[in-house]
Amino acid sequence: MKYLIDTGNLAEIKHCNEFYPLAGVTTNPTLVAKEKSDFWTLIKEIRNIIGPDKMLHVQTVQTTAEKMVEEAKLIKETVGGEFYVKIPIGEEGLKATMMLKELGIGVTMTAIFTPAQALIAAKAGASFVAPYVNRLDNIIGDGVRVVEDIVQEFELYGLDCQVLAASFKNCEQIHKCALAGCHTVTIASDLFKSVIAHPMTDAAVAGFEKDWKAMYGDKKILDF
Ligand code: E4P
Repeated sequence: MKYLIDTGNLAEIKHCNEFYPLAGVTTNPTLVAKEKSDFWTLIKEIRNIIGPDKMLHVQTVQTTAEKMVEEAKLIKETVGGEFYVKIPIGEEGLKATMMLKELGIGVTMTAIFTPAQALIAAKAGASFVAPYVNRLDNIIGDGVRVVEDIVQEFELYGLDCQVLAASFKNCEQIHKCALAGCHTVTIASDLFKSVIAHPMTDAAVAGFEKDWKAMYGDKKILDF
C-alpha cells in the first residue's frame, strides 16, 4: 500500500517527504484555498519538493467536461512529472475521464461514496478512485466496507484502476483499509505521526538508552 499526504501545506509536505516513505501528494480545492497562496506558485513548489517521480494529484474546479480537460492539460503542462487530475464523479466528470484517457492524462475520480460509483469510474478509464472513508463513517456508512467492496469489484473484473482511499481521521481506519487490500491511502500529516507512535515503543527506547548510558556514558558506537 502506498502512502500519500493529503495537504497543500508546504512545510508538512517537506517534513513528510523527508521522514516518511511518501509516494506523493493529493490536494483538493479546500486544502489549496486554506493555504491562501497563489495557486500556480503553490502547485509548482509542491512539485519542486517531491520531484518529478512522485505522484501529484490536483483537482479541477471546472464543471464541464471540455473545461475540465482544458484545465487538466494546463496543470499537467505546468507541473509535469507524475500527474493525476482529480475529478468528482458525475456525468461531466465521466465524459472528461474518457477524453483524458485518450490524451494519456491520468484521472483520479474523487468524491466516491459507493462501489457502484467506483466501478463506473474505472470503466470510464480512471487510474484511481478516491472513496471518502471518514465522511462515510460520520453518517454510519462504513467507509472501510466500501473500500473492501471496491477492491473486490476491481479484482473480480480485472480492472486496471487503483483504490486511493481518502478522508481518514484515525489509524484504525488506515489499518483496516490496508487489510482490505487498498492500493493507496492519502492521509493528513498528523496521521503519519499517529501511525508510528506507540507508548510501548517509547518505553523500549528509553530502556535501551538508560542501560547503554549506565555502561558507556555519552559514548556512541562511532566513538569507540
Ligand atoms: C480526497 O480526495 C479528499 O481531498 C479528502 O481526503 C477529504 O478528506 P476530509 O473528509 O478530511 O475533508
